[in-house]
Amino acid sequence: MSVLKNYNEIITDLDNYMIELLDKSEYPKQLVDPIKYIFIGKGKRIRAILLVEVCKLFELPYKDIRNVALALECIHTYSLIHDDLPAMDDDDYRRGQLTLHKKYDEATAILVGDALISLAFELLAIPSDKIDNECALNLVNKLGKCSGLGGMVGGQILDLKISSSTASMDLVNNMQQMKTGALFQFACLAGPIIRGNDADQRIFAQFADLFGSIFQISDDLIDIESTLSEAGKNVNKDKEKDKYTLIEFLGVDGAKAQIAQKLEDVRILLHDYGVKSERLINLCQELVDRRS
Ligand code: IPE
Ligand code: IPE
Ligand code: MG
Ligand code: MG
Ligand code: MG
Repeated sequence: MSVLKNYNEIITDLDNYMIELLDKSEYPKQLVDPIKYIFIGKGKRIRAILLVEVCKLFELPYKDIRNVALALECIHTYSLIHDDLPAMDDDDYRRGQLTLHKKYDEATAILVGDALISLAFELLAIPSDKIDNECALNLVNKLGKCSGLGGMVGGQILDLKISSSTASMDLVNNMQQMKTGALFQFACLAGPIIRGNDADQRIFAQFADLFGSIFQISDDLIDIESTLSEAGKNVNKDKEKDKYTLIEFLGVDGAKAQIAQKLEDVRILLHDYGVKSERLINLCQELVDRRS
């Protein structure tokens, strides 16, 4: 179950929906079993929860955006499976268990990732009461951008290629906004895109930037301060693998101060949404308090 409180209903529903999708056709068991292994009952589902919470603020009911939320978690899970591969971060543990390529094999891990990308776009293209064909197309376009060259994948290559001679705070910031921040952009913008409101899109793009950096800095702190059993993944690997994070430039205390500043910025940014934004502000706080 998620370490985030109060969201078990969404998490359970997404799991059940995923099982239903995987079991409804005669798909190869060699892919279905590993997808269930890495996905069902695993992960915090923070991106789906954020998407659902932003949509709630815009009065978009869960049933209409369920496919969009699951699509985003499919892309995120694929990104983790590939991130752990020997050619990338070469990690053995993920979500409290062996990584997919360790449990199965590398070819399976690559293909499970590929299958999850395709499934994500299949789901996004399904219209609902609140999502007409044009809106579905806008969501497909946005997720393509956020997950691809100028988003998550682009950030992943920068993460692998940053070296001591090129590293700077700006470069690391930019890399993190791409590799991690871009999927949070999608989570925060799906609601305003469905509603078709440009002013809200601008504000929620800023919110996504803040949320993404609070999330990534706290992930980097987890790498330093948490344990394998708490985090569900190996820790101290950023240092071992010469990964550049903002902590390199800010120090642990400086990083925590920056998180506190960004939490304050969130409160100011969402002030005009009043009580409707309280749940989002609490979610940001929960991010900071987590150990995994
Ligand atoms: C971990 O993401 C990878 C980063 C982008 C830092 P999460 O911490 O959201 O991973 P799960 O989904 O809960 O396993
Ligand atoms: C992963 O960042 C980002 C993506 C998967 C896009 P990290 O490499 O820091 O994530 P962890 O620490 O392995 O979860
Ligand atoms: Mg990585
Ligand atoms: Mg990694
Ligand atoms: Mg990390």
